[in-house]
Amino acid sequence: MIKACLFDLDGVVVDTAVYHYKAWKKLANSLGFDFTEVQNEELKGVSRMDSLKKILAWGGVSKSGEEMNALATQKNEWYVDMIQQIKPGEELPGAKEFLQKIREAGYKTALGSASKNAGIILNNLGITNLFDAIIDGNSVTHSKPDPEVFLKGAEAVGVQPNESVVFEDAVAGIEAAIAGGMYSVGIGQPEVLTKADIVVPGLYDMSIEKLKSLEKISK
Ligand code: G6P
Ligand code: MG
Repeated sequence: MIKACLFDLDGVVVDTAVYHYKAWKKLANSLGFDFTEVQNEELKGVSRMDSLKKILAWGGVSKSGEEMNALATQKNEWYVDMIQQIKPGEELPGAKEFLQKIREAGYKTALGSASKNAGIILNNLGITNLFDAIIDGNSVTHSKPDPEVFLKGAEAVGVQPNESVVFEDAVAGIEAAIAGGMYSVGIGQPEVLTKADIVVPGLYDMSIEKLKSLEKISK
């Protein structure tokens, strides 16, 4: 029986994926190259440093560890400037309502995000209290597709992995759910999130009925 819902943040609850993209693009441009939106899919759910490594490889640029730290800090400063502007009500359509609905129905909720800025974003949106547990980039050592962030989320709310559903917009996040033995709901396009149990365009299209229908799949 499904007892908990574990949510990625960027691209599922709030559209910060677009700010990550803008900040990384600005950084790549400052180094004299660019990357595409298709390449950007590979950065979703991936930690700050791992994202930087991929981007530098795309640009054929090599940097020392110290330079990489400075570049990651620069990107984060641009990104934090953008997310400071986030206000209550800027959740993605249906996100807040779905969280409220499942909590009323007795499901546990946890955040499972690779972002070290998750706390600021939830605070600015005023929705921190909609999560029973918050596991973010400050509390994990392994990036998605490693299941650590979701295993910790399930554990924090006292639910088994096979009683948990992960909501994810990233390929790496769906892979993390599979590796953790959890159900997965892809948020986005079925052609991209091919391994998810089901795919919906956004949380506005989720319902308790759809959640329960996952139980037909054995985990
Ligand atoms: C999320 C995003 C990634 C981002 C990562 C780290 O998983 O999808 O694009 O790189 O968080 O975010 P941070 O805010 O710590 O740089
Ligand atoms: Mg995401």
